[in-house]
Amino acid sequence: MSNSNIVENSTVLSGLTKSFGQVFGDTENIDYFFSPGRINLIGEHTDYNGGFVFPASITIGTTGLARLRKDNKVRLFSQNFPDLGVIEFDLEDASKKEGNSWGNYVKGMITMLTGAGYVIDKGFELLINGEIPTASGLSSSASLELLVGVVLEDLFNLDVPRLELVQLGQKKENDFIGVNSGILDQFAIGFGEINKAILLDCNTLKYEMVPVELGDYDIVIMNTNKPRALTESKYNERFAETREALKRMQTKLSISALGELSNEEFDANTDLIGDETLIKRARHAVYENNRTKVAQKAFVAGDLAEFGQLLNASHASLKNDYEVTGIELDTLAETAQAQAGVLGARMTGAGFGGCAIALVSHDNVEDFQNAVGQKYEEVVGYPASFYVAQIGSGSTKLDVN
Ligand code: GLA
Repeated sequence: MSNSNIVENSTVLSGLTKSFGQVFGDTENIDYFFSPGRINLIGEHTDYNGGFVFPASITIGTTGLARLRKDNKVRLFSQNFPDLGVIEFDLEDASKKEGNSWGNYVKGMITMLTGAGYVIDKGFELLINGEIPTASGLSSSASLELLVGVVLEDLFNLDVPRLELVQLGQKKENDFIGVNSGILDQFAIGFGEINKAILLDCNTLKYEMVPVELGDYDIVIMNTNKPRALTESKYNERFAETREALKRMQTKLSISALGELSNEEFDANTDLIGDETLIKRARHAVYENNRTKVAQKAFVAGDLAEFGQLLNASHASLKNDYEVTGIELDTLAETAQAQAGVLGARMTGAGFGGCAIALVSHDNVEDFQNAVGQKYEEVVGYPASFYVAQIGSGSTKLDVN
């Protein structure tokens, strides 16, 4: 496994520098930034239920080139959306969200930081290049948010504590974009380290960095390539369902989150919920949280076989109880689980499309991709994509000079 981010590849950066010059006139005084995507090993839909998550940042991410302006104009260009041309707005208009453009992510972060008392008093230019496939569930949104966060922090000498930057990223997603997401993505991307996973207790925000030692195994990311589904509305629906289940349990139990319950306590009190769908949703949140704690122990003990079994159980729970998988993710995860040299597989991220991950013996990766890819195309009608994950560092300014 390489220990460097893809973007430190100087050919990539010099290409981006050239583009910056073409878009913004010259290449003086550019600073370079990178923000990763993330996978979540286990602990899905537990973050907004006060439970544990176990993510890692990956070397695929978003690169940004930025510099200050003397006036108050913000000028943005994305290599991924060249047809949009340069997006431009005055700093004073940063709180005005417009359409669905990626410029809202920049506006949102400016609004969150100024709302928290930080001073952003000049315009700037920013060119970005995203490598994370859109709708892949590898968190291109949080990657961009945190990228903008580190750019602003650096350009305006803000010195924002990392946890605050991460929380402002989440607040931006909740208040500015309108998705009730938890803190998983921003935390993984803001705190990621090379070859480490993060065990995070979303109730207390206490966390532990866990070395990723996979021996002969690789983490293979499998992308459904499903066009964007109703992820945001379905996500908010699951959020509301688990909140309602919690409220009903609170009529008798003194708990502040589903993550505080053991499986046994939950099972003994389902009559308080009294609705089959809500019971299933809450059962996933509770069981997945407890499964994540066991999984992390197995991972640290080097028991990858046990860890793999827990990945499979996680997928089954997301399929049957939380109902956030669908034919594309089920075909990938379940076909993967049946292949030689595979210890386990599950969807990762919000679901409804996006990616799954599998723990695959290094020698089997090629056969694995062929077999799973072929089955997927037969069932779904278009191809999946595969990448071997590399665990890279969190959002940062790049030292390129
Ligand atoms: C999305 C959200 C996260 C988390 C996951 C599911 O990625 O942004 O906060 O809830 O889904 O685990």
